[in-house]
Amino acid sequence: MTANLDAAMADAGLKVREVKCASCHKITSEKLVGPGWKGVTQRRKPEWIMNFITNPDPMISKDPAVQAQLELLPGPYAQSKPI
Ligand code: HEC
Repeated sequence: MTANLDAAMADAGLKVREVKCASCHKITSEKLVGPGWKGVTQRRKPEWIMNFITNPDPMISKDPAVQAQLELLPGPYAQSKPI
C-alpha cells in the first residue's frame, strides 16, 4: 500500500473500527475472538483483506487459509456475523 493516506478517511475508519471491530480484534498480535491485526497487511494482500471484510461468508467456505485459521479459533465465525 502506498503512502498517500487520506487522514480524514483514516480517522473515519478508526471510528468504525471502535464500533464494529474492537470487540473481536486488537491491533496488536494478541488474539481476542478474531486474530490480532498486527502484521495483517504483511500476511494478507490488500485485495484479500477487502474481500474478507466486505464479504466474509464465501471466503470462509472457500479460502483454505481462512479455514485453516478457523480451526484455531473459539466458536464458528460464520455464526457470529460481524458486519
Ligand atoms: C464477532 C467477532 C468479530 C467481529 C465483530 C469482527 N471480526 Fe474480523 N474476524 C473474526 C474472526 C473469528 C476471524 C478469524 C476468521 C478466520 O480467519 O477464519 C476474523 C478475521 C478477520 C480478518 C482476517 C485476519 C487474518 O489475520 O487473517 C480481518 C482482516 C478482519 N477479521 C477484519 C474485521 C473488521 C475490519 C471488522 C470490523 C468491521 C471485524 N473483522 C469484525 C471475528 C470478528
